[in-house]
Amino acid sequence: MRVALLSSEVVPFAKTGGLADVAGALPKALREHDRDAVVILPHYDQIDRGFLTDKVIENVPVEWRGGVRPTRVWQSDAAGAPGYLIEAPEYFSRPSIYGYGDDHERFAFFSRATLALCKHLDWQPDIIHGNDWPCGFAVIELRARRRYDSFYQPTRTLFSIHNIAYQGAFDRRDLWWLGFGDPPERDDFMFKGAASALKAGLIAADALTTVSRRYAEEVQTPEQGYGLDWLLRARRNRFVGVTNGVDYDIWNPETDPHIAANFSAEDLAGKRECKLDLLRRFGLPQEPDRPIIAIVSRLVAQKGYDLIRQAAGAILDTGSFFIALGAGDKEYEDFLQRWHDSAPQRVGIYKGYAGEPLAHQIEAGADMFLMPSLYEPCGLNQMYSMRYATVPIVRATGGLDDTVENFDPERGAGNGFKFYPYTTSALLEKIREALYFYGKPEAWTQMQRNGMTMDNSWSAAAKKYLEIYEEILKSPT
Ligand code: ADP
Ligand code: GLC
Repeated sequence: MRVALLSSEVVPFAKTGGLADVAGALPKALREHDRDAVVILPHYDQIDRGFLTDKVIENVPVEWRGGVRPTRVWQSDAAGAPGYLIEAPEYFSRPSIYGYGDDHERFAFFSRATLALCKHLDWQPDIIHGNDWPCGFAVIELRARRRYDSFYQPTRTLFSIHNIAYQGAFDRRDLWWLGFGDPPERDDFMFKGAASALKAGLIAADALTTVSRRYAEEVQTPEQGYGLDWLLRARRNRFVGVTNGVDYDIWNPETDPHIAANFSAEDLAGKRECKLDLLRRFGLPQEPDRPIIAIVSRLVAQKGYDLIRQAAGAILDTGSFFIALGAGDKEYEDFLQRWHDSAPQRVGIYKGYAGEPLAHQIEAGADMFLMPSLYEPCGLNQMYSMRYATVPIVRATGGLDDTVENFDPERGAGNGFKFYPYTTSALLEKIREALYFYGKPEAWTQMQRNGMTMDNSWSAAAKKYLEIYEEILKSPT
């Protein structure tokens, strides 16, 4: 079976969030199940040249804006699977990955180029697996191509939602020159008076997934469907949740090269060294008995930063350190700066995208990891935390609800703490509960071990994807 996974970000090449982790891990996991999986992404300026080789494919003919744009494609196996990176400096040589007025044009080009590439290589995919709105263009184009392009007639599509709030909206007048001006494509894009690449993908794909079971239910409700809940309800027999896995080649405290000392469920000693190292890195006093609560996330409303802002004073009143790593909205960056300035001996911050090492050092050195998300399709950091003996405190939403089980001291079961209402008081109560057990070393160690020994590896998730691919290949379009 041939699978082409398309993504706008892929570890280790380019990353802003969890999508990159998933797109970097799944093709490798599929290959471990003996499937011929490749990953395709844009060739951004930011990509570390060390991950690229000299291998390029020249002059892939991409039909674009009424002509043909010969396109160079770079090859690299750095993601553990054959990777192809589409070069188009006018679109991808920019300071950041997203956030431009022509993002729809950039990723429509990327999408078209992926299909042109497979054809140029005469590598006929059984499955095109698109992720999030940037790949919605490829999914709908594939459906259109099946009508007139025999090469793509047998190919089927899977479209995965990592975050339904990002919908790839753009001026519908652009549909014409992007090549989607005629029905039915044109109509499938139309949403709230504009065009939406996400909606087009959701309608056109042969099957749909999202990244946890709970989120698959949530997006079918008007509260969390961002206007597309009706469509997901209508397609519910083609829509399932598959919880993301963890790439334990990358996130493993026993082998992690980024952390001060390695440790395991059997021998947790190294974690204390990681804690001291973390305090040092953030310029905080060397007080290893004081608990560290940490957060690593994009600074957006989704991640619950409004709750943290409201609870900031009370969090420090508990006597904890707080360490935050994040990039995003200015209002939250400003809040973190103010919080740090008000208590520089207790609050450590890093504003910006730090890359992998610091994220690993925080996972390893912190005691508790906070994810008070308003919504969370899956969330990876709670699973990383568990592996690093850092106890997650989360809001029970989406994948957080699926992967975190409240600690039950009587049975010694559970791997973290979760609260339900999106309120400051519910958050603070859970933090206090966690701190109570932090003071009971036996219970705490039990909880750490419960989390560390959970198997959230990609292997099980990859198997589910394989079942879905096989199912789509069997069913008529
Ligand atoms: P989301 O994809 O919504 O951002 P996830 O929990 O799925 O949330 O994944 C976030 C990923 O991005 C994790 O691997 C996390 O370590 C990483 N990350 C987020 N913000 C930063 C940052 N500022 N610097 C480094 N890594 C970050
Ligand atoms: C999105 C979601 C996050 C999820 C990630 C990978 O960015 O916000 O919850 O873990 O995609 O699927």
